[in-house]
Amino acid sequence: MHIVVGAQWGDEGKGKIVDYLADRADWIVRYQGGNNAGHTVIIGSETFKLHLVPSGICRGKKSALGNGVVVNPVALRAELEALHARGIDTAGKFFVSNRSHLILQRHLQQDGSQEAAREQKVGTTGKGIGPAYMAKIERVGVRAGAWQQADLTDEEREAMAFLAPYLGDTVHLLHEALEAGQTILLEGAQGTFLDVDHGTYPFVTSSNCSTGGACTGSGLPPTAVQTVTGILKAYTTRVGNGPFPTELTDATGSYLQEKGREVGVTTGRIRRCGWLDLVMARYARRLNGVSEWAITKLDVLSGLETIQVCTGYRHQGRLLESYPADSALLEAIEPVYESLPGWGEDLSHCTRYAELPAAARDYLALIEDYTGAPNRYISVGPERDQTLIREV
Ligand code: IMP
Repeated sequence: MHIVVGAQWGDEGKGKIVDYLADRADWIVRYQGGNNAGHTVIIGSETFKLHLVPSGICRGKKSALGNGVVVNPVALRAELEALHARGIDTAGKFFVSNRSHLILQRHLQQDGSQEAAREQKVGTTGKGIGPAYMAKIERVGVRAGAWQQADLTDEEREAMAFLAPYLGDTVHLLHEALEAGQTILLEGAQGTFLDVDHGTYPFVTSSNCSTGGACTGSGLPPTAVQTVTGILKAYTTRVGNGPFPTELTDATGSYLQEKGREVGVTTGRIRRCGWLDLVMARYARRLNGVSEWAITKLDVLSGLETIQVCTGYRHQGRLLESYPADSALLEAIEPVYESLPGWGEDLSHCTRYAELPAAARDYLALIEDYTGAPNRYISVGPERDQTLIREV
């Protein structure tokens, strides 16, 4: 069993790496979040934008939404129908946990009104995620398996009737698969710093995106975990509000935004961009037990004369020892930067690690040295084969 987890604020490029790793997996399972997520997968000339269904489905793999996921039945039905229209078969291959909770019309309305009433806006995706999890924790939620006894709108009821063949006990199915020696890939949505416990609270989502959530959200035990692949974009982005120590609001920020096409898949919002923050990366390595990194979008940094990397947080003249719990403190810290020479070469055609320019390799080496985890995959473009693999 393997876990893929985002090490920043989401949008690290997990979709592409999951798609890549899915090749060797039998099952791909989402463990938290809902259709606030967005994955873009490019296969040949086809682009798939998925919000709920794991991208492995495009490769004919079995996939599941675990018990920790919140499911908007109307949105899921639409996503499945769009896949069917493109010839992707989901019968007997896609499963929805009967323990997952439903996002209903009332949760969507509540998300909007709560956000409007908040003094400090979180900038939610407006998909009803928070209210659906609130209902779950409050023990008044609707589990997918109990839809027939619940108070649903006609549209939701029709969507659930469509989804009924996909409902099942995914905990049982996944344990059977594990015991049969099959490989399970657990796919986190959002990222470590959007985790409701470990992220930049209250500017977070309402679930545990970090690897702890992978076990509770799938019913699979921590002893089954073999590797944890942390996805780290070569720079940092954030959508929505909240502290962002290395944010660039200058021309370099716009350069990253445009070159990296940093626009939210779910909301169409422009992503805030900034330098790589290794304080975050090291903390993410610890929290998630990252055993290897997949560094994404390294190609986007080509053409910058100097690249800055944050290696410390200073507050009132002193370096912080641990990652601050307080978002107000995080707003007030001063990032400590290390400057590295950039490179001009286009990396998108590199096929081997050794082909990368020396400056790019130095940049990657700094990530390893600082975080203590090896860079196993380096992504240099959106295509599946634009992934360099390093034996570590
Ligand atoms: P919510 O998950 O819709 O409640 O939004 C809470 C915060 O998480 C907001 O800042 C969103 O922009 C952010 N967020 C939610 N899903 C994603 C995602 O998939 N990528 C990046 N940010 C996300």
